[in-house]
Amino acid sequence: MIQTKYWTITSSDSLDYHPTIIEAAQLLRRGEVVAFPTETVYGLGASARSYDAIAKIFQAKGRPADNPLIVHLYDRTQLDDIVAVIPEIAERLIAAFTPGPLTLIMAGNGTIATNATAGLASVAIRFPDHPVARALLKAAALPIAAPSANRSGHPSPTTAQHVQADLDGSIAGIIDAGATGVGVESTVLDLTTSPPVVLRPGAISIEELQAVIGTVALDPALTSAQSAPRSPGMKYRHYAPDAPLWIVAGDSTADIYERVHAAAIEQLNSGKRVGILTTAEGQAYYAPKLMARDVVIEACGSRDDLPTVARALYDRLRSFNAHKVDIIFAEAFPNEGIGLAIMNRLDKAAGGRRR
Ligand code: TXA
Ligand code: MG
Repeated sequence: MIQTKYWTITSSDSLDYHPTIIEAAQLLRRGEVVAFPTETVYGLGASARSYDAIAKIFQAKGRPADNPLIVHLYDRTQLDDIVAVIPEIAERLIAAFTPGPLTLIMAGNGTIATNATAGLASVAIRFPDHPVARALLKAAALPIAAPSANRSGHPSPTTAQHVQADLDGSIAGIIDAGATGVGVESTVLDLTTSPPVVLRPGAISIEELQAVIGTVALDPALTSAQSAPRSPGMKYRHYAPDAPLWIVAGDSTADIYERVHAAAIEQLNSGKRVGILTTAEGQAYYAPKLMARDVVIEACGSRDDLPTVARALYDRLRSFNAHKVDIIFAEAFPNEGIGLAIMNRLDKAAGGRRR
């Protein structure tokens, strides 16, 4: 166990020469591991040039060594020190979407710690768009490798309290700057193949990418259980609450509600405590029907506004653990825009279980 420092930064703080930023940047430069907010989820940062610092990330997370990390940069000028060749398509994507929730896979130049890239010749790069992340990257003046700041297998953290629950006592510090905005991780786009391939759907949708660079493919592993994923991280069960989770699909929203309700009744009648992952609309449907039953209803945002679902998703997934439910039914969402990322994470949490 180590003593984990906990700092709070409020939105009214000036970040230039902020004592927390200076202290956290110094820890990173000394090879320590610090958790910080990004616009997607909290990240667990360490110097991407230090093998020993990166080893501490894998240790703290319990992360499999074959799963490479994303290198976070302050700006475009740092790219030439890390990547062998910057494809023209990367320049266009950087201009259009960064800083922002897009990760680009390119051929590396071999200067990043080998454990950060899990020995791959390629490297994942991202320019996060959060004032605290940017201030920290600028002050540290280093490429910072940062996976999501959760124990491997748990939902990614969208608050500093989630990070604390998973990693208190095993990292040097946590910067708390409130809940993150996007709520699901960056889109991972592989630029080492033509056409580029989305390895992990995220906040930047396929539709948005195609508007800038034309054809974009989806890793077949995202839609078929048969293919092996090209992004090592996508092969693990992930984002999982303690209880088994089932995705419930249907022909329409009304059909989904009916199926979830029927599944819940069946389990309640056999004495189970049931969790339902829904939205505000679904909650209004189930709550009167399931009053006084042993059911925990968690609502993520609104079905009419999928970004609000993404923002709340991991927090609600985590809260089922505190309620000790036996089984969880999660409503399916449309596979478009950020809905593709939501469904991808739910599929991982379900380990493929659908009904
Ligand atoms: O939004 C995000 O991307 C967050 C915040 C903290 O920036 N980070 C994040 O990192 O989600 P992590 O480590 O949880 O996920 C990184 C994903 C994994 O699926 C990993 O396999 C993939 O990126 N990845 C990293 N380097 C890769 C490479 N060279 N080739 C293919 N996939 C790679
Ligand atoms: Mg992760």
